[in-house]
Amino acid sequence: MASSAAGVVAIVGSGLIGQSWGMLFASGGFKVKLYDIEQQQVTKALENIRKEMKLLEQAGSLKGSLSAEEQLSLIRGCASVEEAVEGAMHIQECVPENLELKRKIFAQLDRAVDDTIVLSSSTSCLLPSQLFAGLAHVKQCIVAHPVNPPYYVPLVELVPHPETSPATVDRTHALMQKIGQSPIRVLKEIDGFALNRLQFAIISEAWRLVQEGIVSPSDLDLVMSDGLGMRYAFIGPLETMHLNAEGMLSYCDRYRESIKRVLKSFGPVPEFSGPTVEKVNQAMCVKIPDDPEHLAARRKWRDECLMSLARLKRQMQSQ
Ligand code: NAI
Repeated sequence: MASSAAGVVAIVGSGLIGQSWGMLFASGGFKVKLYDIEQQQVTKALENIRKEMKLLEQAGSLKGSLSAEEQLSLIRGCASVEEAVEGAMHIQECVPENLELKRKIFAQLDRAVDDTIVLSSSTSCLLPSQLFAGLAHVKQCIVAHPVNPPYYVPLVELVPHPETSPATVDRTHALMQKIGQSPIRVLKEIDGFALNRLQFAIISEAWRLVQEGIVSPSDLDLVMSDGLGMRYAFIGPLETMHLNAEGMLSYCDRYRESIKRVLKSFGPVPEFSGPTVEKVNQAMCVKIPDDPEHLAARRKWRDECLMSLARLKRQMQSQ
């Protein structure tokens, strides 16, 4: 039976998110053991991580105080789940978003661990009560949901099962801070957690404004990228309210009626289908044709922007 040791993290599933977690844990000086059901995927993951870390080092954006070679020496592949979890203090599950598959993996992990290891899922939207129901080690289970790309976007949503122990939440919070991520505690599970609930609220109203012909798709995106998003990269919506008047009380006094009036004019949930999909898709494809090359190039550009923004935020915080 695997028992936990300080400094070793097991990653189960070595795709996009598993690789990012591997890099982040290595940047914090942790030993990382990568496992995947496809052995060649582990080899591919190790190659990708090497390439990525070297590029980050050249760009001066490698996280942590160790060199790329030092970080790479901390990461190794494993041939079985049992080998990966042996000696680990934290297991980060990163298999595809499928409830049955994840439940199978957690049942397997549950049998392989003792009472000290944290069992953490990267799920974007499966609820902890569904994922961890009936596990003997449910007190040690938690969702730690990262945001893509996790290396540049530090938020991690920590979502406990109703039976998760406070110590598990605290340990995971401390671990995320140690690797330079920005954890938040979602105190009770809720569909969509916090990030996707906010994101979907924005998508919903964006869709409605385009559907009703109030703004064009490209202008709609500018509202966020050149408007709201400029502030939101540094301060959240609540602090924005506080600063946009003489404090929160004054903001609510001044603006509550207007906010409520506008909110009441929001209609039902859009269908995200029909002619509006055609319209939005056409506008997006004019800007970024939806073939793999153009999409990959634009994602690369986005990640470079996020890397520069992350550097700027670090600078601003140290001032
Ligand atoms: P992915 O498809 O890139 O990687 C999944 C990996 O799991 C594959 O390499 C696959 O071979 C492996 N796998 C499948 N069955 C397995 C098993 N039984 N045991 C071990 N490995 C197995 O998926 P991705 O994008 O890395 O997502 C992983 C998780 O992270 C999902 O739950 C997803 O919802 C979540 N997530 C994804 C984000 C994204 O933007 N891609 C963002 C935040 C969370």
